[in-house]
Amino acid sequence: MIKGIQTYPQMPEFESGIRRAPDRGFNLTKEQTEVALKNALRYIPSEFHEKLIPEFTEELKTFGRIYGYRYRPEGRLFGKPIDEYKGKCVEGKAFQVMIDNNLDFEVALYPYELVTYGETGQVFQNWMQYLLVKEYLEELTNEQTLVIASGHPLGVFPSRPDAPRVILTNGLMVGMYDNPADFHTATQLGVANYGQMTAGGWMYIGPQGIVHGTFNTILNAGRKMLGVAPNTDLKGFLFVTSGLGGMSGAQPKAGEIAGCVTVVAEVDKSRIETRQNQGWVQMCFDNVVEVFIHAAKAKTAGTATSIAYHGNIVDLLEYAAEHNIKIDLLSDQTSCHAVYDGGYCPVGITFEERTELLKTDRKKFCELVDETLKRHYMVIKRLAEKGSYFFDYGNSFLKSVFDAGVTEISKNGIDDKDGFIFPSYVEDIMGPELFDYGYGPFRWVCLSGNKSDLQKTDIAAMSCIDQNKRGQDRDNYIWIRDAEENSLVVGTQARILYQDAEGRKKIALKFNEMVRNGDVGPIMLGRDHHDVSGTDSPFRETANIKDGSNMMAEMAIHCFAGNAARGMSLVALHNGGGVGTSRSINGGFGLVLDGSKEKDEIIESAMMWDVMGGVARRAWARNPNAISTVKEYNENYAGVSQITLPYVAE
Ligand SMILES: NC(=O)c1ccc[n+]([C@@H]2O[C@H](COP(=O)([O-])OP(=O)(O)OC[C@H]3O[C@@H](n4cnc5c(N)ncnc54)[C@H](O)[C@@H]3O)[C@@H](O)[C@H]2O)c1
Repeated sequence: MIKGIQTYPQMPEFESGIRRAPDRGFNLTKEQTEVALKNALRYIPSEFHEKLIPEFTEELKTFGRIYGYRYRPEGRLFGKPIDEYKGKCVEGKAFQVMIDNNLDFEVALYPYELVTYGETGQVFQNWMQYLLVKEYLEELTNEQTLVIASGHPLGVFPSRPDAPRVILTNGLMVGMYDNPADFHTATQLGVANYGQMTAGGWMYIGPQGIVHGTFNTILNAGRKMLGVAPNTDLKGFLFVTSGLGGMSGAQPKAGEIAGCVTVVAEVDKSRIETRQNQGWVQMCFDNVVEVFIHAAKAKTAGTATSIAYHGNIVDLLEYAAEHNIKIDLLSDQTSCHAVYDGGYCPVGITFEERTELLKTDRKKFCELVDETLKRHYMVIKRLAEKGSYFFDYGNSFLKSVFDAGVTEISKNGIDDKDGFIFPSYVEDIMGPELFDYGYGPFRWVCLSGNKSDLQKTDIAAMSCIDQNKRGQDRDNYIWIRDAEENSLVVGTQARILYQDAEGRKKIALKFNEMVRNGDVGPIMLGRDHHDVSGTDSPFRETANIKDGSNMMAEMAIHCFAGNAARGMSLVALHNGGGVGTSRSINGGFGLVLDGSKEKDEIIESAMMWDVMGGVARRAWARNPNAISTVKEYNENYAGVSQITLPYVAE
């Protein structure tokens, strides 16, 4: 039995220099406010309610949320070595490592507000949930499953050793309420959490997770759109984008690894400093002219470099358009999934003024956002006419422009059902070149915290890759070969490596064997949701599904249920990851490798299912590369498994 929260602790000190989330907006009625307060107080014994009511009311009205700051443990949280956690099963301890890593000052975007990345992606809704979940995980046995709804632990229930230890969901709404306004109400009431992808799914591994995906995207964009040869890099090309936040911060590093000159606009100086300190950004200027002088020099010299522009992306692009500066690859990674919640800074005001305006005049803020989106679109159009290849980077940018009133951005000129006149990176690049073959963001965390474990796993993973199989395998081999040298670790000792179904299975089995032999400590396997199967997201992961089924969310649900049935240690299903609530359903998993034979069996079935379910859907949508992948699979697994193939009508 867990005791739950029994105390009324001192309000912890807020350390200076730690970024704080902006006000999310409070608009509850008097009755709803009472419900929100009662909801938060459910976690705390009645004797403390009187003292907490004014405090929680103040939090709700000031921040639009009750975070329960008082219940945050003092100081820095971080993913410690697994042996330092209490627990009755390895999974219970492993998930504590993952949760604490997601809330680390060095990793999380707004750690005090439990936001890991993507402006609004929270691990839990409040600190009471954190404390309770932690206690449950300390007591969890391998005969139980912990069930979590939007951060709230419903409880542990009798289960089996080969069932998931944790089943969690975030922000799933009933269809008629599945819209941003109702979601906003639900978050204020304390009943919905926006888990993004790996924030609420406890699988974030710092910006490294996206460096590999971004590297793959820009490299393949160069190959497909700029005529870059398969065995060379992007030397001498210019990539311009925006955002140096949680995920977007990966762009300059990925650009550097891909060999190009990367210019990134960022309005928040503190985020530029974070990336500079990390060595992921080489230079920073407040002045557009200087930015492009240095970019031109590096381009001519063929040097891979990264330059931050401290300012608004619209100013940067308008200057480039007016001065005929040739941008080869162009994108954007501001938090457009939450444009009206502070994710996108209007042009003409500073980042600090944006935070103030959000608090004082939300209506005005929203008007400025819409105006900026329109200007942003216009300048992209001009640059595209001059030869830039623009792609939406999965942040809902095109959809936000459409929602701001720019109908001409939609392909059919009426609605967004047929997509937009600019491609999403999945439509042109990630979908056909990676997802349709089954390549996706396989990742692992060495739970011992030992760097040497990560080194050993890097070498082991490298030995599993056949470089001659496909170009993608060669890219992946180079990625993992150079991973350590590229200093990608922020937080726990983790690695990402894009792999197809067979690759993921092979590496997972190898790792489990290494754990069994005592070569390394336990390992957490997972992925983000930016993948083949786990996510139904019409403007992102499923943007290259063209049989009309991208309005359906069945693949993500099948993936989640299938992973649960096959015994993944954790299964997660969320609303809105990456693109914003009601725009996607996305799921993930975690599998703790303890070296047991049982885990080998789970790998054999679950790892293949986790990928091939999505390849099956892609093949049925008549995607040629998915069809060829399925044909190969059907031959290799004849008598064991079979995927339905379409007759393709011309
Ligand atoms: N492509 C992918 O694979 C992928 C993966 C995860 C997330 N995303 C999406 O990408 C977006 C960014 O994610 P994140 O985690 O980096 O979010 P973030 O909020 O941490 O970072 C976004 C950054 O953009 C900056 N910014 C906002 N408006 C700006 C403007 N007008 N000009 C210049 N800078 C501006 C912000 O200051 C912030 O630092 C989100 O919408 C997220 O959902 C994409």
